[in-house]
Amino acid sequence: PLSRSPRNRWLKIPDDEKGYELDLFCVPKHYEEDLDRVIIPHGLIMDRTERLARDIVRDMGGHHIVALCVLKGGYKFFSDLLDYIKALNQNCDKSVPLTVDFIRLKSYCNDQSTNSVKVIGGDELSTLTGKNVLIVEDIVETGRTMETLLSLLSECNPKMVKVVSLLVKRTPRGSGYRPDYMGFEVPDWFLVGYALDYNEYFRDLGHICILNEKAKVKYKV
Ligand code: IMP
Ligand code: MG
Repeated sequence: PLSRSPRNRWLKIPDDEKGYELDLFCVPKHYEEDLDRVIIPHGLIMDRTERLARDIVRDMGGHHIVALCVLKGGYKFFSDLLDYIKALNQNCDKSVPLTVDFIRLKSYCNDQSTNSVKVIGGDELSTLTGKNVLIVEDIVETGRTMETLLSLLSECNPKMVKVVSLLVKRTPRGSGYRPDYMGFEVPDWFLVGYALDYNEYFRDLGHICILNEKAKVKYKV
């Protein structure tokens, strides 16, 4: 098709993306030795998130939305996305009631996705029965986490389920799953920052960066 709808488009970060030198931005002193390059500066994350909020409200507006945050990695994106949705609600003729819910999933150890996806906490999913649910995720890699969550959720019969993921990785390990909305498509790199972690470190970093090999060893469990 000549013109794809904006909500089915995303910002593609190419495989030869060089990113930006660390020295040009502010990063916490305790991580200076661990990072190679800044790949997505915080400001760009925010600008893209603002647009995702607009696309989501345009599609889901009029319905009550339950925004379901996938912890822990999704919390920054969740909070910023909801701030933008709130701003739209305050300033537009059309507004959409928003409630929040949280679920905690774990599938990663070191920089490898494991085969098991564990649900470790959160509200009873049964509270989502009959609701319009917006799942907010940080990154889709193999797609297994999201497919597991979607199948768990479908047992509770929500009215509608949409998924927004800030990042989607181009990887041969992918199942072919694509979220309804995505911020950026990224190369097959291990990324940290903006709540994306490596064994719980780097959530306290504003930009999305590439971890260097030395750091992978340093923070290995
Ligand atoms: P999937 O099940 O393979 O799609 O993996 C999704 C989950 O793995 C995400 O929710 C993240 O928590 C984690 N993950 C995947 N890639 C990365 C990465 O590059 N950095 C940090 N976490 C990641
Ligand atoms: Mg996650």
